[in-house]
Amino acid sequence: MSENDMEVIREGLVEIYVPKFEKVSASAPVFYNSRMELNRDISILALQTFQEESQREINICDVFGGSGIRAIRYKKEIDGVGEVFANDISSLAIEQSKNNAIYNDVEIEIHQKEANIILRENRGFFDVIDIDPFGTPSYFMDSTAYSLKKDSLLCVTATDTSALCGTYIEPCIRKYNAKPYKSEYCHETGIRILAGFVSLTLAKYKKYIEEIKLSHSSEHYMRLYIKINKGSAQTDESLANNIGHIVHCKKCLYRESTIGLTTSIPEFCPICGEKMVVAGPLWIGKLQNHDFIAKMISKLDSNNNLNNNLNNEIINSNIESNSDIRSNSNIESNSDIMCNSNIESNSDIMCNSNIGSNSNIECNINSDYNSSFKINTEKKVLKLLNNCLEEADAPITFYDIHVICRNLKISAPKLDLIIAKLKEDGFLAIKTHFSPIGIKTDIGIERLKYTIKSLVI
Ligand SMILES: C[S@@+](CC[C@H](N)C(=O)[O-])C[C@H]1O[C@@H](n2cnc3c(N)ncnc32)[C@H](O)[C@@H]1O
Repeated sequence: MSENDMEVIREGLVEIYVPKFEKVSASAPVFYNSRMELNRDISILALQTFQEESQREINICDVFGGSGIRAIRYKKEIDGVGEVFANDISSLAIEQSKNNAIYNDVEIEIHQKEANIILRENRGFFDVIDIDPFGTPSYFMDSTAYSLKKDSLLCVTATDTSALCGTYIEPCIRKYNAKPYKSEYCHETGIRILAGFVSLTLAKYKKYIEEIKLSHSSEHYMRLYIKINKGSAQTDESLANNIGHIVHCKKCLYRESTIGLTTSIPEFCPICGEKMVVAGPLWIGKLQNHDFIAKMISKLDSNNNLNNNLNNEIINSNIESNSDIRSNSNIESNSDIMCNSNIESNSDIMCNSNIGSNSNIECNINSDYNSSFKINTEKKVLKLLNNCLEEADAPITFYDIHVICRNLKISAPKLDLIIAKLKEDGFLAIKTHFSPIGIKTDIGIERLKYTIKSLVI
C-alpha cells in the first residue's frame, strides 16, 4: 500500500498508520475504530491498576489485534509489562501491526493465528487476555476459559448488544444460552447475561469470576474487566451466589432477582398478579469494584498533575536551550507533548513529540517522576468511572423515571428532585451510567411510585 492510501492516527502515546477507508466496518482493510478510543483509554488505566495490585510483571495477549494499536499502547503506556502479543487472523492487519510496532519503537510479539488456536497454544502464559472481536465473544469463550491462569484478568468486549439487550431473542439464546428481556434496564440485563455466560463457561474448567473489577455499557458495546481465579469449591460457590434470573412485571414494573441456576422462579407478580417475564440465567452479583475504580480515578488525577509538572519543567528547563524543540509550536503550547518513562530501568524521561512523522526528541530530564500516559478522552473516562464507582454497592436493576411516569400517567419530575426526596426519606438513590433517566434505589416500586406522585401533585 502506498503512503497516500494511509492515514496517521494519534492516540495515547502512540502514532499508528492505518489504510484509509470510507466507513468503520468489519470489511475495512485493517480495522481501526476511533470510537473505541475511550475503551482503549479505560483499558490502559484498568491494566495498570491490575498490574499494581498483582505486584508482578504481566504478560498480555490482545487476541484480536487489528492495527496493533491496543497492544502497542499496552506495551508503551503501562508499567510492569512483560510480553505483549498482538494476534490477528488477517495478513494485512499483521503487516500493519508490524509496521506500527516499528514506528512506535516497541517490541511486541505479532502472531497470525485463529483466536482459539493462539489461546489454546499459550495456556497459562498470559496474565491479561483481551477479547475484542467483531460482535460476540461467545465463540472464543471456551478457549479463553481454558487458557486463563489463576489470578489473571480477562477483558472482554461484546458489540452484539441487540442480542444481549433482547431486541433479538433467539440469537441471544444461541450465543449466550440465556433469555434476554427488552426492558428499560436491558443494557444492565445484557451485561449481566454476558458476565453470566463467562462465569458458566469458566466453571467447566474449574475457574471462576473472583470479582468484576469494572463493567460498562457505552455507545454500541459492552465491556467487562474480570478477575479470574481457580478452584472447584470456589467455582461452585461463585455459581451458587452469583448466577440467577431477573423476573419483571410489565404491568406494574415490579422486578426481583432470584439466586441459583436451578431454583424455582416466581411466575406471577406479588403486587398485581400479572404473569411476569424472565431474563437469564445471568450474573446477579456485583458489576463494579469500588476500590479498583477508585484507584483508576486517582491514577488519572495523579497523571494529570504529573503531566502538568512535567510540561512546566520541560518548558522551563529545556526549550530555550534546544533549538529543535523551540521550533515546534505544539510543544510551546503544551498541547501535544507525550511522555513515556520506564523509571525502574532508566531515570531519564524520553519525550516523544508529534513532529512530522515519528521524530523522537530526547529531553534527558533527570527526574523522579513516575511513568506517564496520555488519555485524550479524559473527561468522558472520569464521568464514566465516577458513575461506576457510585454504582458499586447499588442494588440490581434500576428504575427509568419516564417509564414509571408513563405507567402512572403523570408528567415526570426532575431526576435530581426524586433522588433528593428518596435520600431524605432514608433510601439509597443514585444515578446509573446505564441511563441518564435511571435511578438505582432500594425502595420498592410501590413506594417509589408514591414518592414520585407526591412530587407532582
Ligand atoms: C474489532 S477488531 C479489533 C480491534 C482492536 N482490538 C482495536 O482495539 O483496535 C477485530 C479484529 O479481529 C480479527 N479477527 C476476526 N476473526 C478472528 C479470528 N477468528 N481470530 C483472530 N482474529 C480475528 C479481525 O481481522 C479484526 O482485525
